[in-house]
Amino acid sequence: MNLFLLLLVFSILVTFSIASFSAAPWVPVHTRDIGRILKLAAIAPGEIFVELGSGDGRTLAAAAHAGARAIGFEISLLPYLISRVRFLFLSSKIRPRIFYKSFWSADLSQADVVYLFLMPKVGEKLVKKLRAELRPGARVITYVWPLTGWTPEKTDVIQNQLALHLHVVPTHSESLQVPPVS
Ligand SMILES: C[S@@+](CC[C@H](N)C(=O)[O-])C[C@H]1O[C@@H](n2cnc3c(N)ncnc32)[C@H](O)[C@@H]1O
Repeated sequence: MNLFLLLLVFSILVTFSIASFSAAPWVPVHTRDIGRILKLAAIAPGEIFVELGSGDGRTLAAAAHAGARAIGFEISLLPYLISRVRFLFLSSKIRPRIFYKSFWSADLSQADVVYLFLMPKVGEKLVKKLRAELRPGARVITYVWPLTGWTPEKTDVIQNQLALHLHVVPTHSESLQVPPVS
């Protein structure tokens, strides 16, 4: 094996480990569930769809085909490179944007829909970030686990398939839970 290949394999392994510690290892969503994600997202044309830890880019590509402006953040080198190659085959008009960057330092304020498949350990830290940055009414879809301490508006459960959860960022008054005037 030449030095370049050795360095590439080393980088793939190191970045896979860093991602695993940060939020989740690369475990791809089932292809059959991507349609369910898009249905739950109910993307309107031109909406911004952001994927936190965008893996191999299949969901971003599907969201772009559905009319979204798709943006992904990924720090594991192998899925990032696979996404880059995948997007080369898409028309530049719908091509998703992917950043080799941690979503923890990304600004999510422009997102209409956020999709993530991360380990529950991201917990309250991620909920705090989403609540602080997303506008009221923005949707957050999670695969397998709901967000910590945030009751989903809707859960899509199909027998023998993994669950999907839709969370909606509340308006300011909802989040303050102001009691009704009597
Ligand atoms: C369980 S996989 C899900 C991949 C993809 N979202 C899907 O549904 O197929 C989690 C992804 O998050 C990535 N990841 C973990 N921590 C990250 C971070 N801080 N910033 C960006 N990506 C991260 C991993 O590399 C991995 O690709």
